[in-house]
Amino acid sequence: MAAKELQYQPGFGNHFSTEAVPGALPAGQNSPQRAPLGLYAEQLSGSPFTAPRHLNRRTWTYRIRPSVTHKPFEPLPQRLIRSGPFDEVQTPPNQMRWNPIPIPAEPTDFIDGLVTLGGNGDVSMQTGVGIHWYAANRSMEGRYFYNADGEMLMVPQLGSLLIHTELGILSVKPGEICMIPRGIKIKVELIDKEARGYICENYGLSFRLPDLGPIGANGLANPRDFQTPVAAHEDLDGSYRIVGKFLGNLWQAEIDHSPLDVVAWHGNYAPYKYDLFKFNCINSVSFDHPDPSIYTVLTAPSAVPGTANCDFAIFPPRWLVAENTFRPPWFHRNLMNEFMGLLVGQYDAKAEGFIPGGASLHNCMSGHGPDAETFQKASAAELRPQKLEGTMAFMFETQLVIRPTRFALETKVLQHEYFECWQGLKKRFSQP
Ligand SMILES: [Fe+2]
Repeated sequence: MAAKELQYQPGFGNHFSTEAVPGALPAGQNSPQRAPLGLYAEQLSGSPFTAPRHLNRRTWTYRIRPSVTHKPFEPLPQRLIRSGPFDEVQTPPNQMRWNPIPIPAEPTDFIDGLVTLGGNGDVSMQTGVGIHWYAANRSMEGRYFYNADGEMLMVPQLGSLLIHTELGILSVKPGEICMIPRGIKIKVELIDKEARGYICENYGLSFRLPDLGPIGANGLANPRDFQTPVAAHEDLDGSYRIVGKFLGNLWQAEIDHSPLDVVAWHGNYAPYKYDLFKFNCINSVSFDHPDPSIYTVLTAPSAVPGTANCDFAIFPPRWLVAENTFRPPWFHRNLMNEFMGLLVGQYDAKAEGFIPGGASLHNCMSGHGPDAETFQKASAAELRPQKLEGTMAFMFETQLVIRPTRFALETKVLQHEYFECWQGLKKRFSQP
């Protein structure tokens, strides 16, 4: 029920007020001597207290018990989840591509199904990203999860999820993304039998909408299309566990109640979701094509202006109309580092091999671009207006080299033959 009662989000930093039970939200102040209905008041800060007003993020929660009421944390064995610094193995400059990770055969929930492909930076320095797949076949039962190392941009590819968070419930399906802010506790329920997707774990400054510059006041991802859940609480006593990701390790503590016990909240630090198919594409209507930054949905800045800790960009359905132009992405080498995933359909720079649920990695100054087949076709194509349909690829583009994990380099789903897709690009030069 609550999953459908989403709040309209006119912009990031918007202040929400919501209560699951009438009268649970105190009027006119944050921490009255006695919070309403016997609730405890607790502030959750997502930025330093002294952050500038437009970047300041905090939410006041009114909960059945304060978050501190749990037993001590003990280390939890890590499966395939890793964190920065990523120094398990040497990072080769090779172009890399992976087939989708299989859905596990044994019962596996969201936490156990986390597999890290790579990342950069350092959790202890709050810079860089971790890039993960999740692959699960059952809902989280009896346990909850939070991440102190970063916010999690979740990009489902297979199966819908009902994400129960401290601040409400989000229903997310492939084609939609959701953001779980640092520290927010969640329980991931599978709506379908199987679920798979990608996660960008952002250790640094939080993702936000990019500035639009000369584009003007509208376009790209419009603020009105982002949605935040209304308050929904669990009043459950029993034997539960809370799993925390803290400084690169997983920890587990016993807790005698559900920590999703926030009955009311107000503030501007909250999860949100967005439907990628609502993205307003800006593109060339004359010749050539702009850089892929034109498809930026969200950007997480670094301390250097214009240099993102991570950009999240997409390649959605759109018209291609540029005249006298090679329309797929051209050959290129970049300073920035590109991790790509495919949610549905086909990516226009590759004829085959890049499969929905799969991934590719092109790091700093490693050449890449259309494969030989795509190059031949696009060079000879008749340039009528053409609609790319039924496709949605995305990119996590980051300032630091993405260093693969040992798993990423040794897994059977790594395509060792990826380089072959360019070997058909033969010498064409002929001197007049
Ligand atoms: Fe690229």
